[in-house]
Amino acid sequence: MTEDTRTGAAPTPTGPLSKIDYSERIPNNVNLNDDRRLQRALEAWQPKFLDWWKTLGPALPTKDVYLRTAIAVGRDGWAHFDHVPMQDYRWGIFLAERNPDRQVNFGKHKGEPAWQEVPGEHRADLMRLIVVQGDTEPASVEQQRVLGETAPSIYDLRNLFQVNVEEGRHLWAMVYLLQAYFGREGREEAEQLLKRNSGDLDAPRILGAFNEATTDWLQFFMFTYFTDRDGKYQLGTLKESAFDPLARTCEFMLKEEAHHMFVGTTGVQRTVERTAQVMKEHGAADTLEHGAIPLELIQKYLNFQFSVSMDLFGSEQSTNAGNYYTSGLKGRWQETRRKDDHVLLDETRTMNVVEDGAIVEKEVPMLSALNLDLRDEYVADCANGVRRWNQELEEAGLEERLYLPHEGFNRRVGAYAQHHISPDGEVLDDATWDERKDGWLPNEEDRRAVAALMVPVYEYGEFASWIAPPKTGINDQPVEFDYVHLAEEGVA
Ligand SMILES: [Fe+2]
Ligand SMILES: [Fe+2]
Repeated sequence: MTEDTRTGAAPTPTGPLSKIDYSERIPNNVNLNDDRRLQRALEAWQPKFLDWWKTLGPALPTKDVYLRTAIAVGRDGWAHFDHVPMQDYRWGIFLAERNPDRQVNFGKHKGEPAWQEVPGEHRADLMRLIVVQGDTEPASVEQQRVLGETAPSIYDLRNLFQVNVEEGRHLWAMVYLLQAYFGREGREEAEQLLKRNSGDLDAPRILGAFNEATTDWLQFFMFTYFTDRDGKYQLGTLKESAFDPLARTCEFMLKEEAHHMFVGTTGVQRTVERTAQVMKEHGAADTLEHGAIPLELIQKYLNFQFSVSMDLFGSEQSTNAGNYYTSGLKGRWQETRRKDDHVLLDETRTMNVVEDGAIVEKEVPMLSALNLDLRDEYVADCANGVRRWNQELEEAGLEERLYLPHEGFNRRVGAYAQHHISPDGEVLDDATWDERKDGWLPNEEDRRAVAALMVPVYEYGEFASWIAPPKTGINDQPVEFDYVHLAEEGVA
């Protein structure tokens, strides 16, 4: 795997190499064999998962796909690549290796041994955290279900399916925890994770951004850049958890997650590269007619996905977040690298609020503002990709640049929810917002214009007009490699 640290590769799992047992019906490195009851519960859930995958997983019929499968956790060389029929993908349970000396690193239990079982007093909160995380994983597969029908290349199609099968595996990761540690209630929650569906009016997914359909590939790339990155930061806080099995699960999920963000970073970059070529050759006026996506439209998609992903961090001030921290359930991003007391009772920080039509700073207790702490880390990470995309514009000799909108832009959650803020951070009244919002967010017409460019290209090594080819293929294969065999060769 080539990873660029500027774009936020996941931390490499540490610890010794642990082999995964593939002779089992459910591949795992948790000695599932030794726990018959759990094994039976997971084996009962497995066909329901496969039904869900067939009904709401990728819609495009394929013979097989060049996918990576985890063969061991820890260090390098954990992935094996091969052509496999997607429904035969070996979804399983992989936890990072256990460190027997691991301690709780923050909150009121700091210094105590990490928990191998769920403490009764934190049971409800821990289960809720796992359910919310687990709910996002299958949701994104559902959101991306029809994208295969308009893939810009076979290379991109493979990447989509890789993301999809791994999100499916992340669901397995959370279901394992629910079934192994939360008894009957956990088993019920595991069922519910397959019953809620993205955009379903009666039983929607828990978080807003996971009920928006992913309508086209530009949105998919923005989603994997901004929304999967939210996932990375949420997993980063759970990786610090005092509940050791959760920490070890999330550590390995982060490793897989890095590829999803690679897909987003390079997908947008290749889109911008193509747009920049057309702008340079023909000027900015009729980019669409030359088969590329106008830069203003890329900016609008960016504005949308960034703002809905910001909402996923919750309110800037949150008593729950403070309680989760103090109890040891959820740490901060890179908790152990922080230079403070890891208890935070006396710490404060500033946050922005809107008062009398202006954005002003106020001082708040640090413990109350941990969602904001995490979101700030996320925003700084997001800015790296934007810089990289702007290099494409710079290299093409263009003046235009992409940018992240203000943190208050288009927000439905938190301090800005009752206000309208422009991408530049100007507080607007309702009338001005209504008048100008179409210049900042994609409207129906914009989405139609992008959708019109989304014609499938299934010839190996060829790419749709709106996106540049990648510099290299996957796992050192050539760009024109036969990454996907469609069910009927050559038929769209
Ligand atoms: Fe995931
Ligand atoms: Fe992901």
